[in-house]
Amino acid sequence: MPHDPLAQADPHRQASLAMARCFSSSVLRPGWPAGAGGSDRALGRMNIRPAAPTDASRIAALVRSFEAVLIEDPAAAAPFWESMSQRAHVENIASNRFAYYVAESTNTLVGFIALRDDTHLFTLFVDAAGQGRGVGRMLWHHLIGRLPPKAEKRGVTVNASLNAVAFYRSLGFRSAGEIVRQHGIAFLPMRWERSPDAA
Ligand SMILES: CC(C)(COP(=O)(O)OP(=O)(O)OC[C@H]1O[C@@H](n2cnc3c(N)ncnc32)[C@H](O)[C@@H]1OP(=O)(O)O)[C@@H](O)C(=O)NCCC(=O)NCCS
Repeated sequence: MPHDPLAQADPHRQASLAMARCFSSSVLRPGWPAGAGGSDRALGRMNIRPAAPTDASRIAALVRSFEAVLIEDPAAAAPFWESMSQRAHVENIASNRFAYYVAESTNTLVGFIALRDDTHLFTLFVDAAGQGRGVGRMLWHHLIGRLPPKAEKRGVTVNASLNAVAFYRSLGFRSAGEIVRQHGIAFLPMRWERSPDAA
């Protein structure tokens, strides 16, 4: 499915979007948010910034919205929900072990990403309505662009929910184990390392 029909139809727009994906964390996304009339007024500015404790309730609600996608065994999922609760996000955002960033468009929270201890991609979510527009990739590039050089050398791990494995592969992550079923969810351990060819 094309990510963006406007970009598909216009090679110049496609090229400028590709540039924006690579180099910017604040980018115009045609069609985002959906606006009336299909004119330039439909363009929205996607901005990425560090999360604040006041974002925690919207972050927790975003995770909740994926319950049906993520949870295999609701009876076993209490520890997962505790780790994704508003309280847990408030604590994480305040902790220097975590780096949280949110993507927003006209004050709507579209997605967020969180890294723990500079080494583990703790979580990454994009609102269902915003998926397939490069937001997840943009959050990832924003994050690794801010990794200390030592951490970047070590690489980044993630416990990828099974629905997200193809997404992580497209970012360069590789499998690092077998599928694990724990706390009501299933995930594949994956690992990303900077390609030696990368500048
Ligand atoms: C996984 C997720 C973060 C992806 O975010 P997104 O903004 O839709 O992804 P993007 O649009 O940035 O896609 C980036 C690349 O991944 C690919 N991709 C994304 N989702 C994919 C899927 N389900 N299957 C195959 N490829 C996929 C895209 O084709 C794109 O590739 P390209 O840039 O080479 O064309 C989002 O779907 C999500 O929040 N899912 C639910 C929550 C979840 O599972 N989070 C992961 C927890 S570990």
